[in-house]
Amino acid sequence: MSDALAPVLQRLRDDFDGAVQRLSALLRIPSISTDPQYRPQTRAAADLLADDLATIGFESSVHDTAGQPMVTAACRDHDTDTVAHILYYGHYDVQPPDPLELWDSPPFEPTIVDGPHGRRIVARGAVDDKGQLMTFVEAFRAWHHVHGSLPVNVTVLLEGEEESGSPSLDPFLASNTAVLTADAAVITDTAMWDIDTPAITSMLRGLVYVEVSLHGPSHDLHSGMYGGAAVNPANELARVLGQLKDDRGVIRIPHFYDDVREISLAERDQWRGLGFDEATFLGHAGLKTAVGEADRSTLERIWSRPTCDINGLWSGYTGEGAKTIIPARASAKISCRLVPDQDPTKVYDGLVEFLHDRTPTDCRWEITSHGTSPAVRVPTDSPYLEAALAGLESVYHRPAVLIGCGGSIPVAGSFQRLLGVDSLLVGFGLDDDRIHSPNEKFELRCFEMGMRSQAAMLAQFARVHQAANR
Ligand code: BES
Ligand code: ZN
Repeated sequence: MSDALAPVLQRLRDDFDGAVQRLSALLRIPSISTDPQYRPQTRAAADLLADDLATIGFESSVHDTAGQPMVTAACRDHDTDTVAHILYYGHYDVQPPDPLELWDSPPFEPTIVDGPHGRRIVARGAVDDKGQLMTFVEAFRAWHHVHGSLPVNVTVLLEGEEESGSPSLDPFLASNTAVLTADAAVITDTAMWDIDTPAITSMLRGLVYVEVSLHGPSHDLHSGMYGGAAVNPANELARVLGQLKDDRGVIRIPHFYDDVREISLAERDQWRGLGFDEATFLGHAGLKTAVGEADRSTLERIWSRPTCDINGLWSGYTGEGAKTIIPARASAKISCRLVPDQDPTKVYDGLVEFLHDRTPTDCRWEITSHGTSPAVRVPTDSPYLEAALAGLESVYHRPAVLIGCGGSIPVAGSFQRLLGVDSLLVGFGLDDDRIHSPNEKFELRCFEMGMRSQAAMLAQFARVHQAANR
């Protein structure tokens, strides 16, 4: 361990209660990005983080965008020719907490409870992504406290619309390339392999998300007067959506698989070697049987195969009791997770074609996109990745593993495309953290080890001479 790192790790230990309090203050702000009603709260979360970073040696700003504000902060104490410049990313927005009645404690009143791994903090955003982004903020704080500076040049970018498709991200990156371009980016928004095994995610799925409405009769009809003679958009939507997959789980959107590649044999072997425990994984979800494309392992299905899923479905009368109508319209939210080399535009166009090919008589489609992002594959041969692996190993005393991620983080693709910067996806979540669900939690052990890892990775990044990257 480097001499500079040891006192930083000690400081993190000494100040752990403070770190939990600071995280709790952030978790109390309901920064829900998808609902415009919460704009003051998203702004408050951005301000809190910018103010906090300003107290630990950063020059920070909150930038207005067409959507939610962006926070940037820079701490560049070193000559850029000799020391690495690392861009850190996290998101301060959260998913809506619904359904509220399923929470054991209020979603925006962080609560510490005991679990099998010790204490955990329960709140919306506990792990996704407030707890995770605070791992690097706390590591910066400790370095700053002990040494008065950070060992590398650091820029921080905190986004407030990751959970709602990042509409303002690309324009913001495009007009701020000079300040944001770095030698490598660290994105802390992913999971570990298990609580004892750190991981770096090398493959991340992309997303195409659409909302569709099928319009039929001009108004809701009496289902006795018209039933049997009038087209029913709810029946028809169910019929069309039922055709999205065949009996073997193969998606029937035109050209969907054109660009999908098989993973390499080496990757397949490496994933097999991870010793995936399917029963535990499904058990966290209250399930016993894995489903999906025939002849594929579960890790392949979630990491390297594309999907098409209905995320929401509604029509007609959904209140108490019975109301006999044929609804005038039926709607669904549909998402496709994409894998590397699939073109989001082509998938979107294919989905639109699939629907139009099946338009029922007297009906019309209304289709809205809620954003697209491509899948990302991260190069695994960079010196920064080596440095991150070394930092993680020094904290966990076992090697970090390379994993895939079924979720999407649009910024990883945008960094590659707009800044030419590759990302290190290093996160400290667990599969059973219930992200996007009631009772989301972050293990305090993951929080603490995450902070220590971020501190150790900073020390390792300092050893990667810029020249090594040229
Ligand atoms: N932190 C998640 C991504 C993630 C999911 C990482 C599962 C590890 C495991 C991220 O905040 C997220 O949920 N992203 C959205 C992006 C979408 C709205 C564009 C997602 O994947 O649904
Ligand atoms: Zn997230």
